[in-house]
Amino acid sequence: MRVVIQDNYEKMSKWAANYIAAKINAHKGYKPFILGLPTGSSPIGVYKELIKMNREGKVSFKNVVTFNMDEYLGLPREHDQSYWYFMHDNFFDHIDIPAENINILDGMTTDPVAECERYEKKIASYGGIDLFMGGIGVDGHLAFNEPFTSLSSRTGVRDLTTDTRIVNSRFFGNDPEKVPAQALSVGIGTVTDSKEVLVLISGHNKARALAATVEGSVSQKWTCSALQLHNGAIIACDEAACGELTVDTYKYFLDIEKKERL
Ligand code: GLP
Repeated sequence: MRVVIQDNYEKMSKWAANYIAAKINAHKGYKPFILGLPTGSSPIGVYKELIKMNREGKVSFKNVVTFNMDEYLGLPREHDQSYWYFMHDNFFDHIDIPAENINILDGMTTDPVAECERYEKKIASYGGIDLFMGGIGVDGHLAFNEPFTSLSSRTGVRDLTTDTRIVNSRFFGNDPEKVPAQALSVGIGTVTDSKEVLVLISGHNKARALAATVEGSVSQKWTCSALQLHNGAIIACDEAACGELTVDTYKYFLDIEKKERL
């Protein structure tokens, strides 16, 4: 696992955006580049930076196919808290990606199981995901894989924990009851099957989750810890999120990644 520590959220975002753009630009061959994407506040800075780079002609998304991590069950696309809406508002409407290259789980499906199977098959039809960018929740959930979700889970229906509904209620008028109780989500196995996984972790409130991801035991209690078993996992984080790492771990990664400091 690589852990790239930047001073702050802006630098973390810039580093991650440059990394993703470099991977897209280096991609050769007849197949498109397959990019997994998250929602949440963590990736907003990366999306802003990628939009800027796209406008400046430094990266194009014409040959990129995207798969989003998750979607609330029961929210229509037009709902301003649906992840479909979030992704178009914060990213897709501002870049040169063809609409048919965008894949997001359908939160209004009448057959959630079939929808999740279709999604897995579509990912497989492209030969898997080249790079999955993610964020994590304060309880370490990756996509909507809450604590105690199997570390080999595939795309499926997830019940949201009370904790997550409380945390996400900031987008639903601070009322946890208004946060959908279920979501469709790629599995931990779906994410770790990707060639590379890049997870953004920033802010003091993610310090425990970062320590669990990097130093904790591999455990279904912290689903983010499954990244320790992946051969191409990168954590991009800021100083504020490092508060629960041991000094040795912190110094080790700063030293080994010192050329990556922005
Ligand atoms: C939600 C999403 C996750 C995301 C997490 C963290 O629960 N389903 O994919 O990583 O929130 O969000 P934030 O980046 O806003 O802290």
